Amino acid sequence: MSMPKSLVSIHDFSKEELLYIVDLAASFEKEYKPVLQGKVVATIFFEPSTRTRLSFETAANRLGARVVGFSDADNTSVSKGETLKDTIMMVSNYVDLIVMRHPKEGSARYASEISRVPVINAGDGANQHPTQTLLDMYSIKKTQGRLDNLTVTMVGDLKYGRTVHSLLQALSQFNTRFKFIAPPELRMPNEYKQYLTEQGLSFTEHTDLAENIDDADILYMTRVQRERFSDLMEYERVKNVYVLKNSLLKNTKPNMRILHPLPRVNEISADVDSNPKAYYFEQARNGMFTRMAIIHYLLHGKATL
Ligand code: CP
Repeated sequence: MSMPKSLVSIHDFSKEELLYIVDLAASFEKEYKPVLQGKVVATIFFEPSTRTRLSFETAANRLGARVVGFSDADNTSVSKGETLKDTIMMVSNYVDLIVMRHPKEGSARYASEISRVPVINAGDGANQHPTQTLLDMYSIKKTQGRLDNLTVTMVGDLKYGRTVHSLLQALSQFNTRFKFIAPPELRMPNEYKQYLTEQGLSFTEHTDLAENIDDADILYMTRVQRERFSDLMEYERVKNVYVLKNSLLKNTKPNMRILHPLPRVNEISADVDSNPKAYYFEQARNGMFTRMAIIHYLLHGKATL
C-alpha cells in the first residue's frame, strides 16, 4: 500500500504547495462549492482545542464533507487501554481523512505511517502545528501584501511553542528577518536557530519587549503554555513575563499587525483588541478558509485557481 500524502510537518509541503494553499484559501474566502459531498473527515483530538477542531469541522462541512470524531479520548476505547496504533487503524478504516491532535511529539508522523488515509497534524506536543502555519502565512500575505523580506518578531514561549517552530521553518523560505523575544528559560531551541543559520538567515535574540518591537512587520505573540511545564514553579515564574499593551505600540510601524495563535491568557491586554494593529481574531477566521484549502488539496488534488 503506498502512503497517502499527509501534512504532518511544514516540510511535507513544498514552497509551491504552501503558496498554492494560501491562494486557495483566498479563493475560498470569496466563493466555494460543496465539492466534497460523500467524503467523511475524522477529527480525533487527544488534547483540548477550540479553534483548530471547530475550524476544521466547519471547513469540512462547508465543502460538503461529513465529520465524525472525538474531542475527549476518555470517552473512547483509549480509556480501556487501546493503543494509538489500533485507534488509527480503526479510524482509517472508516473515513477519508484524519485530523489529529496529540500531546506526544512524533505521534502524528507515526499515525501517518500506519493510516490508510491522509493524516493532518493538528498539533503534536511542542513539535509542529503546520495548519496554524498555513493560516498564519495567509494572514501575513493578506495584511502585508507579500510574504518576502518581512521582519517577524516572535514573543513569549519560543521553547515549547509549536506554532513558532512551524512558522519559522516555513518563513525561512521567504528571506524573513527574525527577532526572538523570550525569557532565558523559554528561548528558541538551538535546533531551530541552527536551522536558520543553515538557511543563511540571521536572527537576533532579546529579553525586553518594549525596546524591540518598533521595526516589526508582524508581531507574533504566544502564550506561555502551562501544560508543557514539568516544573509548575518555573511556569509561575515566567507566565506573565510579557504583557502587550496599547502604550507599547505607539512607535510601531503603521502596517504592523499583531498575530497570536490563541488562546491568550494575559500576554495581550484587552485594550489592544480594538487597536487596528490587532489581527488575531481575523487570523482565527482565516483558519477556516485555510483548512478548507488543506482538506480540499489532500482529498481532491490541485484545482485551477
Ligand atoms: N491555535 C490553536 O491551536 O488553538 P486551539 O488550541 O484552540 O485549537
